[in-house]
Amino acid sequence: MSTDKLNLIAKKLCEKPKGILAADESTNTIKKRFDSINVESNFEMRRAYRELLFKTPNLKNFISGVILFDETIRQEDSDKTSFAKYLLDNDIIPGIKVDTGAIHLEKNSQEKLTEGLDGLGKRLEEYKSLGASFTKWRAIITIDNESNMPSDYCIESNSFNLARYAKIVQDCDMVPIVEPEVIMDGEHSIEDCYEVTCKTLKNVFKQLELHKVFLGGILLKPNMVISGTLNKNQASVETVAELTLNCLHKCVPHDVPGIVFLSGGQSNELATEHLNEMNKKSKDLPWNLSFSYGRALQQPSLSKWFGKDENIQIAQEALFQRSQFNSEATSGKYNSENENKI
Ligand code: 13P
Repeated sequence: MSTDKLNLIAKKLCEKPKGILAADESTNTIKKRFDSINVESNFEMRRAYRELLFKTPNLKNFISGVILFDETIRQEDSDKTSFAKYLLDNDIIPGIKVDTGAIHLEKNSQEKLTEGLDGLGKRLEEYKSLGASFTKWRAIITIDNESNMPSDYCIESNSFNLARYAKIVQDCDMVPIVEPEVIMDGEHSIEDCYEVTCKTLKNVFKQLELHKVFLGGILLKPNMVISGTLNKNQASVETVAELTLNCLHKCVPHDVPGIVFLSGGQSNELATEHLNEMNKKSKDLPWNLSFSYGRALQQPSLSKWFGKDENIQIAQEALFQRSQFNSEATSGKYNSENENKI
């Protein structure tokens, strides 16, 4: 493992004013997104949609890397250039989702365990030859106070798998994005989210240490500390920023170069505002705080595209605009009033 090389890639991915575009939706997930705009999800439409995103003019001004799905890293643009090569030629680093999804943690349990360790080393060699130099693995932690979720079993087994994944990836000279997502769906309070996120991150870093993962060569992709979607008391932007930063200070070692948040189902504007507030609040953080959004970057383009070629340009403009707002938020310079000027 070349630690210098890993550190260089990790830093480049989270360096201000850039962040990561997560475009690694599985076939099932992208179908749900396409269903919402009444577009059939087939191989060609998924290819066309990803081409639209990646070929957005000047995307590289705000986007350092793109996370791809297995199908997408094997696809080509309409000029027969592989997407990975196109991105590399345009100064954007291709990455790849390598977990194979989540199964029930136990029979009849609602909790999930993310899988994909078997044969991972071999798959990584292939992804590397296809152009990827970083990877992603997402673990899912659900809060439900009535069902005593999350269980210690769920947090600890997912943390173990995340760390084992990170170790295998680094041994293959690639950068792992470690993504423990505490899901925002539910009635829980922001305090519940704070407690569970802290506990999860502490466990994750304990396991990363046990597995001898080089922290200078990973990126952490956590949820923000936020009120459950069904909770009556939705915390303010300031409170979300304060509790998220507090949790990160408590749990994340300073060797980690960057923290790139997921959006998790927040509205586009709130995902940007929260990131902006954190970067505005604290200028001297030990890590770069940036974004690795899926929905909060893609939603406006998806709803402009509608599967029609004549809408490609406005869909690309929408992705460019959202990326620019989030880029501004990496330095605390986003102004929400500019949303109304679109
Ligand atoms: P969202 O930003 O839509 O949560 O997606 C990020 C991601 O990569 C989920 O694994």
